[in-house]
Amino acid sequence: MREKLVAGNWKMHGSLSENKALLDAIIPQLADLSRASCAVCVPFPYLFQAQAALQSGNISLGAQNMSQHEKGAFTGEVSASMLLDFGCKYVIVGHSERRALYGEDDATVAAKFVAAQKAGLTPILCVGETLEEREANITEQVVARQLDAVLAVAGVAGLAKSIVAYEPVWAIGTGKTASPEQAQAVHAFIRGKISAASAEIAAGLVIQYGGSVKAANAAQLFSMPDIDGGLIGGAALSADEFVAICRAAQQG
Ligand code: PGA
Repeated sequence: MREKLVAGNWKMHGSLSENKALLDAIIPQLADLSRASCAVCVPFPYLFQAQAALQSGNISLGAQNMSQHEKGAFTGEVSASMLLDFGCKYVIVGHSERRALYGEDDATVAAKFVAAQKAGLTPILCVGETLEEREANITEQVVARQLDAVLAVAGVAGLAKSIVAYEPVWAIGTGKTASPEQAQAVHAFIRGKISAASAEIAAGLVIQYGGSVKAANAAQLFSMPDIDGGLIGGAALSADEFVAICRAAQQG
């Protein structure tokens, strides 16, 4: 059976004092999870703080973005090896905000995916359609295109050491969650697509759902057969919400 993974994506939120309060609240409450794992993906300046705090407990650390380059004249960028230096296990690549606001195309996202794995990080690859694309009935085409870009450079074997997060753009930060059935349909499509290349890798692939997950809807989403946890934005900033979502993954 696949273990579920709940990862908090703090986005550009937090401060030293807010982070301390949040981490102090969640770490002891999540110390006993066995059937699910949890991570927090924090802004770069707080990696050191989070790394130190997460020494105790069993929550993993992640970042929200990275450069596709190993090192060099890339002012303002952060490399995979720098993230490893600060204890990161995960890095989100291709979040829809990066794609839409910072012009990251499929090829760039794929290059980041490969660079993350090469350095020893586990990429959380975000895919998902916009509202216009859903209404035009091209959700599967969009998700397939986003996956194909990664498969082309990483091969299906690359997917074996990664997490995929299905995040319909229309559900992110809008309070409009995809219904469990809507999400399950796309998750099954993703698993089916990977299965065509390797049934074994597809069966083991953790596919998270992201987009307005909260304590009140997590259990229903996580009970679907192909939904293996979640990538949590807004609700990850509340200790009570995040802990409850992680508990739902533990039970589901
Ligand atoms: P949300 O964000 O939970 O606030 O919708 C999810 C994400 O962007 O990863």
